[in-house]
Amino acid sequence: MIPYAKQSIDESDIEAVCEVLRSDFLTTGPTIPLFENVLSRRVGMPHAVALNSGTAALHAALVAIGIGPGDEVIVPPITFVATANAVIYCGATPVFADVDPDTLLLDPQQVKQNITAATRAIIAVDYAGQPADYPALKVIADKHDLVLISDACHSLGAELNGTPVGALADLTIFSFHPVKPITAGEGGMVITHNPQYAERMMRFRSHGIDKDHNLRAALNSWEYDMVELGYNYRLTDIQCALGLSQLKRLERFIQRRSEIADIYTQGFAGHPGFSSLPVRDGVKHAHHLFVIKLHDTFNQQHRLALYEKLRAVGIGVNVHYRPVYLNSYYRQHIEPQSISCPVAEQCYQRVLSLPIYPSMVDSDIQFVMDQLLIASDEILVTD
Ligand SMILES: Cc1ncc(COP(=O)(O)O)c(C=O)c1O
Repeated sequence: MIPYAKQSIDESDIEAVCEVLRSDFLTTGPTIPLFENVLSRRVGMPHAVALNSGTAALHAALVAIGIGPGDEVIVPPITFVATANAVIYCGATPVFADVDPDTLLLDPQQVKQNITAATRAIIAVDYAGQPADYPALKVIADKHDLVLISDACHSLGAELNGTPVGALADLTIFSFHPVKPITAGEGGMVITHNPQYAERMMRFRSHGIDKDHNLRAALNSWEYDMVELGYNYRLTDIQCALGLSQLKRLERFIQRRSEIADIYTQGFAGHPGFSSLPVRDGVKHAHHLFVIKLHDTFNQQHRLALYEKLRAVGIGVNVHYRPVYLNSYYRQHIEPQSISCPVAEQCYQRVLSLPIYPSMVDSDIQFVMDQLLIASDEILVTD
């Protein structure tokens, strides 16, 4: 099977991990601040806090800005469930604002319409690796005194008008899951300009304890105080070593992803049945996903037929995403009448993610393109 996504691990990654395995610290050691510093410098921001998943990073970011019961946080429905779940972890309410029909990115006009007296923050998602419209979102956030959060789990390495993702919002969340732009096995990071947020997240990721073992050793004291309820959300040194090693190849990974995206885009240009998602002006895309959108000539059964035909020939196509609020948990916990995201629901019926990952070879790209064209022709002819 050609998967829709896949990590790229080489000998230098293995060596970096082995080096930590031979060292004194497997966790709470020096590789964690090293990874944090390298990543924060890379995006030009002063603070980074490593956590053991993108989900934990989202949770920590919301806790750091004081989200709690009674608060509302605006999120797009076209995202992985974790974006909205993190709001619920805080006892707050995710409010779904619809997406742009072309890019599937959070629509700033829809954000405006969903602001209430309880709104505290906006989480924009860089769907597929394309930065959201942060300049427009920032104007709205500033006007209503909201915190702007970037769920950049898809977009490490992307840029908007020359500014790297990581420096476009008050807090930015990255994920290091294996399908993501770089991997640490699992892992996450929050980037911020705000030292208070960073300090709170550092404490929160380690049980809410005020002094870690390094500080206690420096103070020659065994005492610590748990000042708030935290979690064990720590990323290990082993994972940070892998993340650091991968970060050295991020540009190369994105370069290859861009080449693949270009081949697909040119290969499908002018096709009557589907098109790739447009890239907005000023965007350097991370190409985490390559998403095609089927035109009206295809209906929902056609999308399923296409999915099945491609899977049958060994192509691991996928669908990103079913609007979060259509999941059973959300149907049970959020009033459906309170949600109106017709664009997200229409787009969900029409999208299909094609394989894209740095080690994908040209013959696999050609195979995917050929099979997609054959399958789509067959479906339209036999209908
Ligand atoms: C948009 C988005 N947000 C959050 C997450 C959660 O990241 P993690 O899997 O590292 O917890 C993911 C991961 O799939 C994601 O795609």
